[in-house]
Amino acid sequence: MRAELAAKPRAWVLGGSGAIGGAVVRALRARQIDTVMTYRSRKEPALALAAETGARALELQLSSRDALIPQLDAELALGRPSLIVHCVAQSAALPLVELSEALWRDTLQANAESALWLAQWAAARELSPLDLVFTGGLDRSQSLPLPVHYAATQGMLAAMVMALGHELGPRGIRVNMVSLGVMDAGLSATLTSERRTDYEHFSALRRVGRAEEAAQVITWLGLENSYIQGKVIAVNGGI
Ligand SMILES: NC(=O)c1ccc[n+]([C@@H]2O[C@H](COP(=O)([O-])OP(=O)(O)OC[C@H]3O[C@@H](n4cnc5c(N)ncnc54)[C@H](OP(=O)(O)O)[C@@H]3O)[C@@H](O)[C@H]2O)c1
Repeated sequence: MRAELAAKPRAWVLGGSGAIGGAVVRALRARQIDTVMTYRSRKEPALALAAETGARALELQLSSRDALIPQLDAELALGRPSLIVHCVAQSAALPLVELSEALWRDTLQANAESALWLAQWAAARELSPLDLVFTGGLDRSQSLPLPVHYAATQGMLAAMVMALGHELGPRGIRVNMVSLGVMDAGLSATLTSERRTDYEHFSALRRVGRAEEAAQVITWLGLENSYIQGKVIAVNGGI
């Protein structure tokens, strides 16, 4: 762990009730990091994970900036985080012609706008040193058959991380993103079995990833990284 964290590292995992977020919570707690995890709808599994690991579970709805900021401020009053992991996303296996404006707005807010407002809030509150680790599903070098609304928000995240890296680096905030391939749980449940098999064959490692493998890289970025900034790290088995 970096020397600066030796005193009292504290992590927030947004989307801790999800497959990847849950694995991150476990990895952080295994290292005895003081961890707050959020959930939106899956309260019971979130409370169970919190009880099992010793994390604290908190309900958090990522919608508008006006709704988000007071929730973040309330949590900040209880302790300053040194690491915030954004593990929140929504997707639906939907062709473009069936995409409604309401679903697009929800997806945009949850997947990308929330990360933007989170970063802006962290800078405004002068949270330094801080690591922001976003998770997503594109590293801008792939050509994948993703739902368009999901892909658009993931591309936005990746581009945002690049620019945030430059703007927030001088303020003592590292920002990076982990771009995942198909994992064994979570959002991958929206894939058809045919598409999942395609990914397995297309992966250079010939398998989907495990949530723990994603968590390993995410926690490394949050606790060990000192010089990677504004980058998208692909963890996708070589897709
Ligand atoms: N799993 C994969 O195969 C895969 C592949 C590529 C990329 N990823 C990336 O990994 C990250 C995590 O995905 P996952 O697979 O862990 O998905 P997941 O299991 O469906 O978890 C999603 C998390 O986001 C939360 N969430 C969704 N919408 C929200 C909102 N509006 N406000 C607050 N919380 C909200 C959910 O809360 P509740 O469940 O409590 O409602 C849950 O904690 C995402 O960035 C995703 O793009 C995953």
